[in-house]
Amino acid sequence: MSDPLIRVEHLTKIYGSGETAVRALDDISFSVTAGELLSVMGPSGCGKSTLLNMLGALDQPTEGEVWVADEDLAHLKDVDNFRARTVGFVFQLHNLLPTLTALENAEVPMYGQPVSAKDRRARARHLLDLVGMADRAKHLPSQLSGGQRQRIAVARALANDPALILADEPTGSLDSESGEEVLELLHDLNSTQGATIIIVTHDRRVAQTTQRILLMKDGRIVDDHRLLNPLEEDLRMLARSRLGQAILDPNDRPLPLITPEEEAVLRRVLERVNGAADRTKTIERGLS
Ligand SMILES: Nc1ncnc2c1ncn2[C@@H]1O[C@H](COP(=O)(O)OP(=O)(O)O)[C@@H](O)[C@H]1O
Ligand SMILES: [Mg+2]
Repeated sequence: MSDPLIRVEHLTKIYGSGETAVRALDDISFSVTAGELLSVMGPSGCGKSTLLNMLGALDQPTEGEVWVADEDLAHLKDVDNFRARTVGFVFQLHNLLPTLTALENAEVPMYGQPVSAKDRRARARHLLDLVGMADRAKHLPSQLSGGQRQRIAVARALANDPALILADEPTGSLDSESGEEVLELLHDLNSTQGATIIIVTHDRRVAQTTQRILLMKDGRIVDDHRLLNPLEEDLRMLARSRLGQAILDPNDRPLPLITPEEEAVLRRVLERVNGAADRTKTIERGLS
C-alpha cells in the first residue's frame, strides 16, 4: 500500500500564552490518501482554518507532526518552495492581486519556479481554459463576478500542479449557483486529474458531495465519516429521522402509518446502518 499523502500526528496548536491561550487544535491525528476529496466541517472557531494552515505550512504546530508528500513540515529546507510546489490554496475571499489580469494572477505561483516566461504563460492559458475562463484572460479581478474570480483562484492554485489543494470555504462568498459551479470544478479536478482536495465548509450539502467528512469541534476531530454510496447515505438519513428512530426503538409501538410487518423489514434495514447512525448523531451534535 502506498504511503498517505498527508499524515497528521498528535497535532496541537496553541495561540498566545497564559490566560489568553487558545487551543485551536487539540491533539489531532488523521491521514489522507492521494486522490481523496474530503471536507472538514464544524462550527465557527473550531479550528478548521488553523488545520488547513498547518497542512499548507502557513503556520507552525505547537506540538505534533505534519507530513505532506513525504516531507516533515517542521523541517522544510525551503518553506516557500514547498508551498509553491506542493500546495494550491483557494480561500473564501479569492484574494487575487487586483492590478494583475486573470492570466497574470494564474501565473503568480510559477514565479520563482524553474519555468521560462513563455512556458509560464502557456501554462496559465491552459489553466484558464481548464476552469472555463479562457475568454477572460485579460480582465482584471474587478471586472469579474465573484464566481469567475473564484475560478481564477482555482486556476492559480493549480499552477504548479500541486499534490494537494486546500480550499477554505471556497463557496462561502458566492451565490448558490456560482458556488455550485466552483464545487463542480473541484470535483472535476479530483476525478479527472486525480487531485487530492480538502474543502473546509460549514455547508452540509457541500460536505455531502465529498467522499469523506472530518467533523471538528473545539480543536478536535470528533468524527471521521466516509460517504460510501448514495443509497447508504439515504438510509442513514432515514435512520436518523423521527420515523427511523421510532422504527429502531424496540419499545416503541408500531407506527400508525405502516404495518408491523413493514416496520420489521425497515428495522432490519436500518439496523444495518445503525452503527453509522450513531456516528451521524455525533455529527448532528457537533453541528448544533
Ligand atoms: N492568529 C491567531 N491568533 C490567536 N487566535 C487565533 C488565531 N487564529 C485563530 N485563532 C483562534 O483559534 C480558534 C480556531 O480558529 P479558526 O481555525 O480560524 O476556526 P474556524 O476556521 O473553524 O472558524 C478560534 O478560537 C480563533 O479565535
Ligand atoms: Mg475558518
